[in-house]
Amino acid sequence: MSDTELFRSQDQIQARVKQLAQQISSDVTERPILVAVLKGSVIFLADLIRELSVEADIDFMSISSYPGAGQRSGVVRIVKDMEMPVEDREVIVVEDVVDTGLTLAFLLRNLETRGPRTLRICTLINKGVRRIVEPFIHYSGFETSEFLVGYGLDFKGRYRNLPDLLTVKDLPRLVADPRRLEYLYSEEPAAQPGEK
Ligand code: IMP
Ligand code: MG
Repeated sequence: MSDTELFRSQDQIQARVKQLAQQISSDVTERPILVAVLKGSVIFLADLIRELSVEADIDFMSISSYPGAGQRSGVVRIVKDMEMPVEDREVIVVEDVVDTGLTLAFLLRNLETRGPRTLRICTLINKGVRRIVEPFIHYSGFETSEFLVGYGLDFKGRYRNLPDLLTVKDLPRLVADPRRLEYLYSEEPAAQPGEK
């Protein structure tokens, strides 16, 4: 059994990112601020902004769970705040994955207090079935419940720079050996579905 399966290829990702960017471009009424949540969404943001047909500002936030609070507590801390004021601006939070939604719910509550004109979410991956709290997702690239790596998504800081989105088929095995997928860097890229 191989360790991973192709979830979406680079080309499939680019096509979907283009659709999301078109939707965002037609929805905004003035120059939006795209706020990327570090680090997983950086590659997605870079592709997304280049497909927008409107001008946009970009900014970054970084958050982490409180040590000891537990993964599922939703208690998070802003490690790096965004620099731009959001008052009366159209703000779009750019996420890699919305899983339980706890991180995002915290972030939204915080940004709401700063008085943005609009506050919307754009996530590359939506894991709807795993949701504990329900922030409304305005733009969602792909739906899954599986663990993915590549295209910015990591496992313990690894595999972000793999160009495709890959499904990890045996997560406990990767937990036991985080370097297990390193061989993927020296392999031929996966064939596209339908490609000869
Ligand atoms: P949650 O929505 O608060 O549970 O947190 C979602 C965060 O968990 C994401 O921003 C990712 O950093 C991480 N995460 C969840 N699922 C995945 C995955 O499939 N691959 C890589 N990171 C993930
Ligand atoms: Mg994240």
